[in-house]
Amino acid sequence: MEGNPLCRIDSTVCSDLAMAINKLREAGLSDVFHGKRFLVSGGAGFLGSWLVDTLYMLGAEKITVVDNLSTGSLDNIRHLLGTGRVELVDKPVEALSPVKGYDYVLHLAARPSPDDYMEHPVETLRASSLGTEVMLESARLSDAVFLLTSTSEVYGHAQVVPTPETYWGYVNPVGPRSCYDEGKRYAEALAMAYMRQYGLDVRISRIFNTYGPRLDWRSPGYGRVVVKFIAQALRGEPLTVHGTGRQTRSFLYVADNIEAHLRLLAPREELRGAIVNIGSSDEITILELAKLVLEITGSASGIVYLPPRPDDPPRRRPDITKARRLLDWKPQTTLQEGLRKTTRWIQNKILLPPK
Ligand SMILES: NC(=O)c1ccc[n+]([C@@H]2O[C@H](COP(=O)([O-])OP(=O)(O)OC[C@H]3O[C@@H](n4cnc5c(N)ncnc54)[C@H](O)[C@@H]3O)[C@@H](O)[C@H]2O)c1
Repeated sequence: MEGNPLCRIDSTVCSDLAMAINKLREAGLSDVFHGKRFLVSGGAGFLGSWLVDTLYMLGAEKITVVDNLSTGSLDNIRHLLGTGRVELVDKPVEALSPVKGYDYVLHLAARPSPDDYMEHPVETLRASSLGTEVMLESARLSDAVFLLTSTSEVYGHAQVVPTPETYWGYVNPVGPRSCYDEGKRYAEALAMAYMRQYGLDVRISRIFNTYGPRLDWRSPGYGRVVVKFIAQALRGEPLTVHGTGRQTRSFLYVADNIEAHLRLLAPREELRGAIVNIGSSDEITILELAKLVLEITGSASGIVYLPPRPDDPPRRRPDITKARRLLDWKPQTTLQEGLRKTTRWIQNKILLPPK
């Protein structure tokens, strides 16, 4: 396993990466990605940068990150850019001409935060439509394995909870969230079309809420709920809950998510065309989450209620039976443990002077 320059600057992320890599070693997957070439859209974002760090440590020969830094940050990958094995193409993925020469093409570029995508519906749809096509074409030219990171949002207001992969979804095709939900549904359909028509080796993860260090907690208008609550609590500001707070979510810690994704990328015939929910099956209301964050941070902040977000799903919990069986995976990190790690990470950033 390769050393990572990150370990000199971020011990939280580094120890979690080591944990994920140990799990992969136990699964016999630590050598699979050695010497391989990766094209990763969205690689400067939260999940993308964790994947890039992990692949770097597993000995990837070349990792090309395509990212327009719209919701991601150079800070997430800067430590790898001088290594000679990781490069950044700073442009919208949809503006890229399809490229060849990769073993794996991973399409993560998206604008997944509701506040942000509702502000940028056209860009959101372009990343999932034109962007997915560019990445699929690149995979086809390269004869590479293709990964699409899809979302629980393809299920919309799921009428079946816990939601299995066989559920077709209940989505408003024209509402303010449709740019993200329908964009991802189109991306899934296009990926499956490439598999059926061209025999491409496609894998699709449907990710449920994942949190942890590097999730953007700073940009106004981005804030996803876990890091938004932690940052508000640490600053002594009231925690802002949309609606009644009785809506539920299931939160997965990032290291568990990354382990699941690498298992999904394993060279196994039965994973061709696999569509798998990746998430935690522990469901919690947003109000309970707010109270837990107040307890863990020891904050005296109160809670204030804002109008509900349009089309906000009332419940979200994955059925992860398939991931357990197909990937031999299950979440390991408790919500309390993950919240403590994320709090420590944000606390360090708040204490650090801005660059
Ligand atoms: N984190 C979660 O809870 C979650 C849940 C469901 C699905 N997902 C999916 O996982 C993937 C990664 O999400 P994340 O949580 O890391 O979010 P993120 O916002 O941190 O990362 C997305 C990255 O894509 C980049 N990007 C956006 N539009 C682009 C474009 N047109 N061209 C090039 N780059 C572009 C952003 O700059 C950013 O670096 C996304 O596909 C998202 O839909 C994440």
